[in-house]
Amino acid sequence: MVLNFQKDISLCAYNTFGIDVKSKKFISIQSTDVLKAVLSENQDSQLLVLGGGSNLLLTQDFDGLTLRIESRGIEILHEDEYKAKIKVAAGENWHDFVLWCLEKDFGGVENLALIPGSVGAAPIQNIGAYGVELSQVFESCEAVSRETGEIKTFNKAECEFGYRNSIFKNALKGKYIITSAQFNLTKAPHQINTSYQGLFEKIKSKSPSIQMIAQAVIKIRSSKLPDPRQIGNCGSFFKNPVVDSEKFAALQKQYANLPHYPDREGKVKIPAAWLIDHLGFKGYRKNDAGVHQKQALVLVNYGKASGTEIKKLAQQIRNKVLENFAIDLEFEVNIL
Ligand code: EPU
Repeated sequence: MVLNFQKDISLCAYNTFGIDVKSKKFISIQSTDVLKAVLSENQDSQLLVLGGGSNLLLTQDFDGLTLRIESRGIEILHEDEYKAKIKVAAGENWHDFVLWCLEKDFGGVENLALIPGSVGAAPIQNIGAYGVELSQVFESCEAVSRETGEIKTFNKAECEFGYRNSIFKNALKGKYIITSAQFNLTKAPHQINTSYQGLFEKIKSKSPSIQMIAQAVIKIRSSKLPDPRQIGNCGSFFKNPVVDSEKFAALQKQYANLPHYPDREGKVKIPAAWLIDHLGFKGYRKNDAGVHQKQALVLVNYGKASGTEIKKLAQQIRNKVLENFAIDLEFEVNIL
């Protein structure tokens, strides 16, 4: 098998922050066979695995081998009157997959419309938006072990999904490369999720179709979140913090209008965007690194910001939030 490695190439076009760093070696991967061959030939290399590059902040040139997963294919494995089981290659674009589902009238992913990134990356952080998380439609994924080259199937329980979290960000971090995922989708009449307040308000119909839900989600996202093709960004830079009830009570005493949502085990989730906004960071800009004008959780690259400048800004925000609210924000984005 001839493997087409490229040398010293810019990763600018391959990360949605639009950070211009170089990778020493680079290869596009179209199939699992190529992936296995690349892994066996490069066992000692440092690897950077890229899907859509939409959850990654690059802060320096990369001295190893970058793999860009570009495998394609959407397959209906099973379909009956009520449901469909779909297998999707890791390199498929997530939003294109959502559009494909809408076209077929398969329900379950409509609230996740317009999330940037690839299908293979989606399970890693259990993508979620507007009341729905990937784990709710997820059946399993296949992944190649970096160490042995063997393919393993992970069912939902084995993925250990949490809020923007999975086993692939923890115990198995860097150990497997996801090659495909399977989803369980519904057929009409669909179960609709309008639990997110803003979504409920946007939808006039009492019994909306999944296409109407997706349209509303696209409208809300486009009005609040910057399009990475126009302004470099990675969506939410921070996770929303979860605090215990005592800590929340103390905060609420000080900030009566603090938005909050109930979380697991009596804990409370607080929007990091509110904390950051409250400290006056919304719309803040230093050189080309900034905080988005319409969503304080999103850091943006207005053009030529370096990864280090964005990271510095993130750290500055984190310090200020810690100082003011005694909450240590966690980065949602992976920093390299
Ligand atoms: N808010 C502010 N200032 C802002 C923005 C928001 O005060 O600039 C407050 C408002 O009170 C608002 C609350 O924060 O009610 C929540 O804001 P929003 O509904 O926009 O959601 P979020 O918690 O900021 C999360 C996800 C998003 C997802 C939306 C909608 C995380 C880290 N982020 O954001 O996901 O699209 O909910 O479901 O959980 C992503 O992960 O990249 C992402 C964009």
